[in-house]
Amino acid sequence: MNLTQFRKLSIALATLLAAAGIATPSLALDADAAQAVFKKNDCGKCHAPEKDKKGPSLKKIAEKYKGKADGEEKTIKNMVTGTKVKLDDGTEEEHKVIKLDPAKPADAAALKNLAGWILAR
Ligand code: HEC
Repeated sequence: MNLTQFRKLSIALATLLAAAGIATPSLALDADAAQAVFKKNDCGKCHAPEKDKKGPSLKKIAEKYKGKADGEEKTIKNMVTGTKVKLDDGTEEEHKVIKLDPAKPADAAALKNLAGWILAR
């Protein structure tokens, strides 16, 4: 099997599993779940898909981290640690900490899915 065939098979498999309601975080993203977490945590107050708000657009974040080996890790870290960030008006505050605990497997999977969703732009 060549790479293209393998990719096609992976996508077909992920689609099949998703249709069966089985999450496949390594193969496919659950965009609905990611969006739900994003909404529930008020991330949209400062981040929009395309436009900068108080924080950078998701597109900008994706551009910053896309293709980087540690991109996903850094994206997740930013959501869970409350690092100091600069808002668009120049004021500084601690970044919102998402209500998910990376130490819990289910939460860790949700974080990974959300990071993947943000970076998949
Ligand atoms: C009060 C406004 C605000 C809220 C709410 C907010 N953010 Fe942010 N976020 C920012 C700002 C400002 C930055 C830019 C940090 C910088 O570049 O210094 C940022 C940066 C980020 C980054 C990129 C970090 C980087 O290293 O460039 C990610 C990822 C992110 N936010 C995700 C989220 C998620 C997920 C949520 C919801 C849990 C969220 N943000 C809620 C303001 C916010």
